[in-house]
Amino acid sequence: MIRRGAFLAGAAAVLSGCNRYQTSLGGEAAESANFLRLFWTFMAVCTLMYVLLVGGMLIALWRSRKAREALVVENGRHHASAPILRPLLIGWAALILVGLSALAIASFVTDRSNAANASHPKLVVTVTANQWWWDVQYSLQGTTTALRTANELHLPVGVPAEVILESNDVIHSLWIPNLAGKQDLIPGRVNDLQLWPKKTGLYRGQCAEFCGLQHAHMALDVTVESKTDFARWLTAQKRPAFAPQGPVETAGYRYVTSRACASCHTVSGTQAGGTVGPDLTHFASRRSIAAGTRPMDRGNLTAWVADPQGLKPGTNMPKIPMRRDEVRAVVAYLERLK
Ligand code: CUA
Repeated sequence: MIRRGAFLAGAAAVLSGCNRYQTSLGGEAAESANFLRLFWTFMAVCTLMYVLLVGGMLIALWRSRKAREALVVENGRHHASAPILRPLLIGWAALILVGLSALAIASFVTDRSNAANASHPKLVVTVTANQWWWDVQYSLQGTTTALRTANELHLPVGVPAEVILESNDVIHSLWIPNLAGKQDLIPGRVNDLQLWPKKTGLYRGQCAEFCGLQHAHMALDVTVESKTDFARWLTAQKRPAFAPQGPVETAGYRYVTSRACASCHTVSGTQAGGTVGPDLTHFASRRSIAAGTRPMDRGNLTAWVADPQGLKPGTNMPKIPMRRDEVRAVVAYLERLK
């Protein structure tokens, strides 16, 4: 009974696409909608052929049994059905030809449509993969400096974006199923991905190629929002980091900007300028920590600062011996960085 219940729950989850947060059955962007249309075309043609084939086979079995029975009675007159076989076979061959042609044409149209969509990007974002997090840089019009964030992608709805893909270490693969297909990030090579979101929403991207110990904890939070919300987000991200308030945050600020943290992380407007790890300038405005490993909240943040290896074994962030009050101060300051 329990097994049946679990099966039904599983089937319901599959049929509903689990949720709309991470599914390739959503079609929330131009490319994923094209792929979805192609998927259903393949599904329809292949299902039709399968049903006809199995149906034909069952009829043949049934007829051969009848023929054998007739053979016993009439002895040798079971070839009476042969004349019908020829047109049936010709029809079947023609159907295969039409089916395969339909699939080839549908694939070609999808490919051309995706290529046409990619021709006029209005926004350029560079995503660089690392073990195990995503560095995200927005090229801003009119300036040479890029806006830097990590493990999140904000996109305005209805605006075609080109995402330049690079990697600092091994081969990764970026997959945001709601928006597009997979694309590899290869060291020493530049790839690109076209994202033209058509619906606002929160989506989840994920590294889709085994890259090491924390491959599974390499998620990318994607926010597709209205143009106004995107402009607001961009303005907020361009601001230098907020100053600490009160003695605890100030102690945290001093720790982050003068101790080991500063050699890997940048907090703009302070002396912390490391580029090895994620930019922390507006860290607390993100939805999750450690590339989607845990939601952004004080408990998870405390666990992360106190022992990164405990939360994400193998991460490049080392465990730094800290007193309790130092952990509390660093967490308080990080929470200020909205
Ligand atoms: Cu990066 Cu798997």
